Amino acid sequence: MKGIILAGGSGTRLHPITKSVNKQLLPIYDKPLVYYPLSVLMLAGIREVLLISTPRDLPAFKDLFGDGSLLGMRICYAQQDEPRGLAEAFTIGREFLAGEPCALVLGDNMFHGQDLTRILSNARMTVENKGGAVVFGYPVKDARAFGVVEFDEDHKVVGIEEKPSDPKSNYAVPGLYFYDGQVSDFASKVEPSSRGELEITSINNAYLERGELSVELMGRGMAWLDTGTPAGMLKAAEYVEAVQSRQGYFIACIEEIAYRRKFIDSDQLRTLGEKLKKTDYGRYLISIADEEQVN
Ligand code: TTP
Repeated sequence: MKGIILAGGSGTRLHPITKSVNKQLLPIYDKPLVYYPLSVLMLAGIREVLLISTPRDLPAFKDLFGDGSLLGMRICYAQQDEPRGLAEAFTIGREFLAGEPCALVLGDNMFHGQDLTRILSNARMTVENKGGAVVFGYPVKDARAFGVVEFDEDHKVVGIEEKPSDPKSNYAVPGLYFYDGQVSDFASKVEPSSRGELEITSINNAYLERGELSVELMGRGMAWLDTGTPAGMLKAAEYVEAVQSRQGYFIACIEEIAYRRKFIDSDQLRTLGEKLKKTDYGRYLISIADEEQVN
């Protein structure tokens, strides 16, 4: 399975911060926002990732991740000239995907919780073994700003509505989606919606109409954090700080995940830590590399 991170957009709700800097490069406490969605793909066991961003911002992402080899990964890059909508990820990424199943994560989405790895591997297995698509439903107080899942009396999913003024449930669809190899074909048939965007909801409803969409509900133990506004970013940073300082485990530490997933070995991890050793982040990496040597 391959992965795509969609890290373009215009970030208008964060202006003036994002007038000259891409939202996904801004810090959430101790690391750039894009680390969080990248870590989700890595936790799903994905080693080949396409990062899509704007012509202005791609050089900065290349600076940050290079070709991915330091993480034992392959990271490729592609350009989205205008933020025409999420569905465009799969036409831009058609060649990269080459008909393989994939996971798409939006560059500004953060997930954290006990069950995350299990949820990810279940979704991956479903799509790889049975085909179709897997998306998620996450309970929110006000679902009007999201794609919203509509259920019938038997709790069967009957549709997903994009940004409804009168939501039919409080289950929003977060920015994490798993698809089989048909997705680029579906994406190329999507027409712009009334608000002028190539909506991912159109792809999801195309799978649903064929009986090939499964919607997995995320429980209250899962955190899905909003980073689209200044207040959302601040709350997300506070969440990361609180968990990390209490537990001593870092959230979305991509080098640690690469090591634990055996993408890299302890020597490679230590080298990455040494480069950052003035920071808690770097010292954390070194401590993990050392720990393993003792054991
Ligand atoms: P949005 O939150 O819909 O848009 P945005 O990030 O541009 O922010 P704002 O609403 O403040 O203007 O985007 C969700 C994510 O998807 C975000 O990470 C940017 C990314 N995105 C793209 O990369 N390309 C696109 O065409 C769109 C619509 C979004």
